[in-house]
Amino acid sequence: MTILEIDSLRKEFQMHVVGGKRVVGLDGVSFDVEDGEFLAIVGESGSGKSSLLKCLYRTYIPSGGSIRFSSTDGDVDLASCGEREMLALRDDEIGYASQFLDEIPRVPALDVVARPLVEDGVERTQARSVARDLLTELNLPAELHDAYPATFSGGERQRVNLARAIAPRPRLLLLDEPTSALDPETKAAAIDLLDTYLTEATTVVGVFHNRDVVEQVADRVVVLDDAALQRVVDVETYIAEAGSTADRPDSEVRA
Ligand SMILES: Nc1ncnc2c1ncn2[C@@H]1O[C@H](COP(=O)(O)OP(=O)(O)OP(=O)(O)O)[C@@H](O)[C@H]1O
Ligand SMILES: [Mg+2]
Repeated sequence: MTILEIDSLRKEFQMHVVGGKRVVGLDGVSFDVEDGEFLAIVGESGSGKSSLLKCLYRTYIPSGGSIRFSSTDGDVDLASCGEREMLALRDDEIGYASQFLDEIPRVPALDVVARPLVEDGVERTQARSVARDLLTELNLPAELHDAYPATFSGGERQRVNLARAIAPRPRLLLLDEPTSALDPETKAAAIDLLDTYLTEATTVVGVFHNRDVVEQVADRVVVLDDAALQRVVDVETYIAEAGSTADRPDSEVRA
Protein backbone atom coordinates (compact mmCIF):
# COMPACT_ATOMS: atom_id res chain seq x y z
CA MET A 1 0.00 0.00 0.00
CA THR A 2 1.28 3.47 -0.83
CA ILE A 3 0.44 6.44 1.36
CA LEU A 4 1.94 9.03 -1.02
CA GLU A 5 2.29 9.07 -4.80
CA ILE A 6 4.35 12.05 -5.88
CA ASP A 7 4.13 12.65 -9.61
CA SER A 8 6.14 15.19 -11.65
CA LEU A 9 6.31 17.55 -8.69
CA ARG A 10 7.64 20.95 -9.67
CA LYS A 11 8.41 24.08 -7.65
CA GLU A 12 9.65 27.31 -9.17
CA PHE A 13 10.44 30.50 -7.34
CA GLN A 14 9.95 33.90 -8.94
CA MET A 15 12.81 36.08 -7.71
CA HIS A 16 11.40 39.59 -7.87
CA VAL A 17 14.48 41.14 -6.30
CA VAL A 18 16.71 39.87 -9.10
CA GLY A 19 14.64 41.05 -12.05
CA GLY A 20 12.06 38.24 -12.07
CA LYS A 21 14.63 35.48 -12.53
CA ARG A 22 13.16 32.03 -11.90
CA VAL A 23 14.80 29.53 -9.58
CA VAL A 24 13.81 25.89 -9.90
CA GLY A 25 13.56 24.19 -6.51
CA LEU A 26 12.07 20.92 -7.74
CA ASP A 27 12.14 19.81 -11.34
CA GLY A 28 9.63 17.02 -12.04
CA VAL A 29 10.20 14.76 -9.05
CA SER A 30 8.26 11.46 -8.89
CA PHE A 31 8.34 8.67 -6.31
CA ASP A 32 6.01 6.69 -4.04
CA VAL A 33 6.08 6.32 -0.27
CA GLU A 34 4.91 3.03 1.23
CA ASP A 35 2.58 2.96 4.19
CA GLY A 36 4.61 2.55 7.41
CA GLU A 37 8.06 3.03 5.91
CA PHE A 38 10.78 5.43 7.00
CA LEU A 39 12.03 7.27 3.94
CA ALA A 40 15.16 9.41 4.16
CA ILE A 41 15.70 12.33 1.76
CA VAL A 42 19.35 13.15 1.10
CA GLY A 43 21.24 15.39 -1.32
CA GLU A 44 23.60 18.33 -1.46
CA SER A 45 22.72 21.68 0.03
CA GLY A 46 20.29 23.40 -2.32
CA SER A 47 19.20 20.18 -4.03
CA GLY A 48 15.56 20.70 -3.05
CA LYS A 49 15.09 18.61 0.11
CA SER A 50 13.34 21.28 2.19
CA SER A 51 11.33 22.44 -0.83
CA LEU A 52 10.06 18.88 -1.23
CA LEU A 53 8.94 18.63 2.42
CA LYS A 54 7.38 22.08 2.27
CA CYS A 55 5.39 21.08 -0.83
CA LEU A 56 4.18 17.95 1.01
CA TYR A 57 3.09 20.08 3.98
CA ARG A 58 1.92 22.79 1.54
CA THR A 59 3.97 25.53 3.15
CA TYR A 60 4.97 25.89 -0.50
CA ILE A 61 2.32 25.68 -3.19
CA PRO A 62 3.70 23.38 -5.90
CA SER A 63 4.03 24.90 -9.38
CA GLY A 64 3.08 21.63 -11.03
CA GLY A 65 2.55 17.91 -10.57
CA SER A 66 0.51 16.03 -8.01
CA ILE A 67 0.87 14.52 -4.54
CA ARG A 68 -1.74 11.82 -3.95
CA PHE A 69 -2.10 11.28 -0.21
CA SER A 70 -4.17 8.36 0.94
CA SER A 71 -5.98 9.93 3.89
CA THR A 72 -8.33 8.07 6.21
CA ASP A 73 -11.19 9.78 4.32
CA GLY A 74 -9.92 8.78 0.88
CA ASP A 75 -7.39 10.11 -1.62
CA VAL A 76 -6.46 13.80 -1.63
CA ASP A 77 -4.10 15.70 -3.95
CA LEU A 78 -1.98 17.75 -1.53
CA ALA A 79 -0.74 19.85 -4.47
CA SER A 80 -4.21 21.17 -5.29
CA CYS A 81 -6.63 20.53 -2.41
CA GLY A 82 -8.33 23.45 -0.68
CA GLU A 83 -6.74 25.36 2.17
CA ARG A 84 -9.38 24.20 4.65
CA GLU A 85 -8.84 20.56 3.74
CA MET A 86 -5.09 21.02 4.12
CA LEU A 87 -5.52 22.56 7.59
CA ALA A 88 -7.73 19.64 8.63
CA LEU A 89 -5.13 17.16 7.40
CA ARG A 90 -2.42 18.98 9.37
CA ASP A 91 -4.58 18.70 12.48
CA ASP A 92 -5.46 15.06 12.03
CA GLU A 93 -2.92 13.20 9.92
CA ILE A 94 0.17 15.10 8.78
CA GLY A 95 2.88 16.37 11.13
CA TYR A 96 5.92 18.48 10.29
CA ALA A 97 9.03 19.51 12.18
CA SER A 98 11.10 22.25 10.61
CA GLN A 99 14.63 22.77 11.80
CA PHE A 100 13.58 25.21 14.49
CA LEU A 101 10.38 26.08 16.25
CA ASP A 102 9.17 28.83 13.90
CA GLU A 103 6.20 30.49 15.52
CA ILE A 104 6.82 30.47 19.22
CA PRO A 105 3.58 30.55 21.15
CA ARG A 106 3.66 32.22 24.55
CA VAL A 107 3.03 28.98 26.39
CA PRO A 108 5.34 26.74 28.43
CA ALA A 109 7.31 24.10 26.52
CA LEU A 110 5.28 21.32 28.12
CA ASP A 111 2.02 22.76 26.79
CA VAL A 112 3.49 23.34 23.32
CA VAL A 113 4.13 19.59 23.14
CA ALA A 114 0.88 18.58 24.90
CA ARG A 115 -1.37 20.80 22.77
CA PRO A 116 -1.68 18.52 19.71
CA LEU A 117 -2.59 15.64 22.01
CA VAL A 118 -5.22 17.71 23.82
CA GLU A 119 -6.62 18.69 20.41
CA ASP A 120 -6.83 14.97 19.61
CA GLY A 121 -9.00 14.50 22.71
CA VAL A 122 -6.37 13.29 25.18
CA GLU A 123 -7.10 14.43 28.72
CA ARG A 124 -4.84 17.36 29.72
CA THR A 125 -3.02 15.73 32.64
CA GLN A 126 -2.31 12.67 30.53
CA ALA A 127 -1.17 14.82 27.56
CA ARG A 128 1.21 16.77 29.82
CA SER A 129 2.57 13.54 31.21
CA VAL A 130 3.34 12.23 27.70
CA ALA A 131 4.91 15.61 26.86
CA ARG A 132 7.07 15.47 29.99
CA ASP A 133 8.25 11.95 29.10
CA LEU A 134 9.14 13.01 25.55
CA LEU A 135 11.06 16.11 26.66
CA THR A 136 12.87 14.08 29.31
CA GLU A 137 13.85 11.46 26.72
CA LEU A 138 15.25 14.34 24.65
CA ASN A 139 17.36 15.51 27.61
CA LEU A 140 15.54 18.83 27.95
CA PRO A 141 16.29 19.90 31.55
CA ALA A 142 13.22 19.63 33.80
CA GLU A 143 13.45 23.29 34.83
CA LEU A 144 12.83 24.27 31.19
CA HIS A 145 9.62 22.25 30.88
CA ASP A 146 7.56 25.11 32.32
CA ALA A 147 9.55 27.90 30.66
CA TYR A 148 8.65 29.72 27.41
CA PRO A 149 10.56 28.37 24.37
CA ALA A 150 11.04 31.96 23.14
CA THR A 151 14.10 32.19 25.39
CA PHE A 152 15.48 28.75 24.46
CA SER A 153 18.68 28.02 22.56
CA GLY A 154 18.46 26.60 19.03
CA GLY A 155 19.02 23.06 20.22
CA GLU A 156 16.47 23.39 23.02
CA ARG A 157 13.87 24.72 20.60
CA GLN A 158 14.64 21.92 18.20
CA ARG A 159 13.85 19.37 20.91
CA VAL A 160 10.51 21.02 21.71
CA ASN A 161 9.76 21.12 18.00
CA LEU A 162 10.54 17.43 17.53
CA ALA A 163 8.58 16.38 20.62
CA ARG A 164 5.58 18.42 19.45
CA ALA A 165 5.68 16.81 16.00
CA ILE A 166 5.95 13.21 17.17
CA ALA A 167 3.65 13.46 20.23
CA PRO A 168 0.38 12.75 18.38
CA ARG A 169 1.96 9.97 16.28
CA PRO A 170 0.62 11.40 12.99
CA ARG A 171 -0.02 9.04 10.06
CA LEU A 172 2.52 10.99 8.01
CA LEU A 173 5.43 12.73 9.71
CA LEU A 174 7.69 15.15 7.81
CA LEU A 175 11.03 15.90 9.48
CA ASP A 176 13.51 18.46 8.13
CA GLU A 177 16.94 17.86 9.70
CA PRO A 178 15.26 17.47 13.11
CA THR A 179 18.50 16.83 15.01
CA SER A 180 20.89 19.22 13.23
CA ALA A 181 21.41 21.51 16.25
CA LEU A 182 21.82 18.75 18.85
CA ASP A 183 25.00 17.47 20.46
CA PRO A 184 25.92 13.84 19.61
CA GLU A 185 24.45 12.37 22.78
CA THR A 186 21.12 14.16 22.45
CA LYS A 187 21.07 13.39 18.73
CA ALA A 188 21.38 9.68 19.55
CA ALA A 189 18.59 9.99 22.15
CA ALA A 190 16.37 11.70 19.57
CA ILE A 191 16.96 8.99 16.98
CA ASP A 192 16.24 6.29 19.58
CA LEU A 193 13.03 8.07 20.45
CA LEU A 194 11.88 7.99 16.82
CA ASP A 195 12.45 4.25 16.94
CA THR A 196 10.74 3.57 20.26
CA TYR A 197 7.88 6.10 20.33
CA LEU A 198 6.71 5.79 16.74
CA THR A 199 5.13 2.64 15.34
CA GLU A 200 4.31 1.25 11.90
CA ALA A 201 1.21 3.45 12.03
CA THR A 202 3.44 6.46 11.33
CA THR A 203 5.08 6.88 7.94
CA VAL A 204 8.12 9.15 8.10
CA VAL A 205 9.66 11.24 5.32
CA GLY A 206 12.74 12.85 6.79
CA VAL A 207 15.72 14.91 5.67
CA PHE A 208 18.89 13.77 7.42
CA HIS A 209 22.42 14.76 6.58
CA ASN A 210 24.27 12.24 8.70
CA ARG A 211 24.83 8.88 7.05
CA ASP A 212 24.90 6.98 10.36
CA VAL A 213 21.45 8.33 11.16
CA VAL A 214 20.15 7.36 7.72
CA GLU A 215 21.54 3.87 8.20
CA GLN A 216 19.93 3.55 11.62
CA VAL A 217 16.42 4.78 10.83
CA ALA A 218 15.66 4.55 7.11
CA ASP A 219 14.10 1.77 5.07
CA ARG A 220 14.71 3.53 1.74
CA VAL A 221 16.60 6.59 0.59
CA VAL A 222 15.58 9.24 -1.95
CA VAL A 223 18.58 11.03 -3.43
CA LEU A 224 17.97 14.51 -4.85
CA ASP A 225 20.48 16.20 -7.10
CA ASP A 226 20.08 19.76 -8.34
CA ALA A 227 16.27 19.85 -7.95
CA ALA A 228 15.83 16.46 -9.64
CA LEU A 229 15.35 12.94 -8.38
CA GLN A 230 18.60 11.04 -8.84
CA ARG A 231 17.53 7.69 -7.45
CA VAL A 232 15.47 5.84 -4.84
CA VAL A 233 17.29 2.92 -3.22
CA ASP A 234 17.03 0.55 -0.26
CA VAL A 235 19.10 1.75 2.67
CA GLU A 236 21.38 -1.31 2.34
CA THR A 237 22.20 -0.37 -1.25
CA TYR A 238 22.68 3.24 -0.29
CA ILE A 239 25.10 2.42 2.51
CA ALA A 240 27.00 -0.09 0.36
CA GLU A 241 27.36 2.51 -2.43
CA ALA A 242 28.42 5.21 0.02
CA GLY A 243 30.93 2.89 1.66
CA SER A 244 32.55 2.22 -1.69
CA THR A 245 33.24 5.91 -2.24
CA ALA A 246 36.72 6.37 -0.88
CA ASP A 247 36.85 10.17 -0.76
CA ARG A 248 34.52 10.53 2.21
CA PRO A 249 36.40 10.77 5.46
CA ASP A 250 33.39 11.86 7.51
CA SER A 251 29.87 10.60 7.56
CA GLU A 252 28.12 13.67 6.18
CA VAL A 253 25.71 12.79 3.44
CA ARG A 254 26.44 14.91 0.44
CA ALA A 255 25.11 12.33 -1.98
N1 LIG B 1 11.39 30.58 -0.68
C1 LIG B 1 12.32 30.50 -1.62
N2 LIG B 1 12.53 31.51 -2.50
C2 LIG B 1 13.45 31.41 -3.46
N3 LIG B 1 14.23 30.34 -3.67
C3 LIG B 1 14.07 29.31 -2.85
C4 LIG B 1 13.11 29.32 -1.78
N4 LIG B 1 13.17 28.13 -1.13
C5 LIG B 1 14.13 27.42 -1.75
N5 LIG B 1 14.67 28.11 -2.79
C6 LIG B 1 15.72 27.65 -3.70
O1 LIG B 1 15.42 26.32 -4.10
C7 LIG B 1 16.58 25.53 -4.11
C8 LIG B 1 16.40 24.34 -3.18
O2 LIG B 1 16.36 24.83 -1.85
P1 LIG B 1 16.06 23.90 -0.61
O3 LIG B 1 15.93 24.76 0.58
O4 LIG B 1 14.92 23.01 -0.94
O5 LIG B 1 17.41 23.03 -0.53
P2 LIG B 1 17.89 21.94 0.51
O6 LIG B 1 18.20 20.71 -0.25
O7 LIG B 1 16.90 21.84 1.62
O8 LIG B 1 19.27 22.56 1.06
P3 LIG B 1 19.95 22.50 2.53
O9 LIG B 1 20.61 21.15 2.65
O10 LIG B 1 20.94 23.60 2.50
O11 LIG B 1 18.87 22.72 3.56
C9 LIG B 1 17.73 26.44 -3.73
O12 LIG B 1 18.34 26.91 -4.91
C10 LIG B 1 17.05 27.58 -3.00
O13 LIG B 1 17.77 28.76 -3.11
MG1 LIG C 1 16.97 22.28 3.65
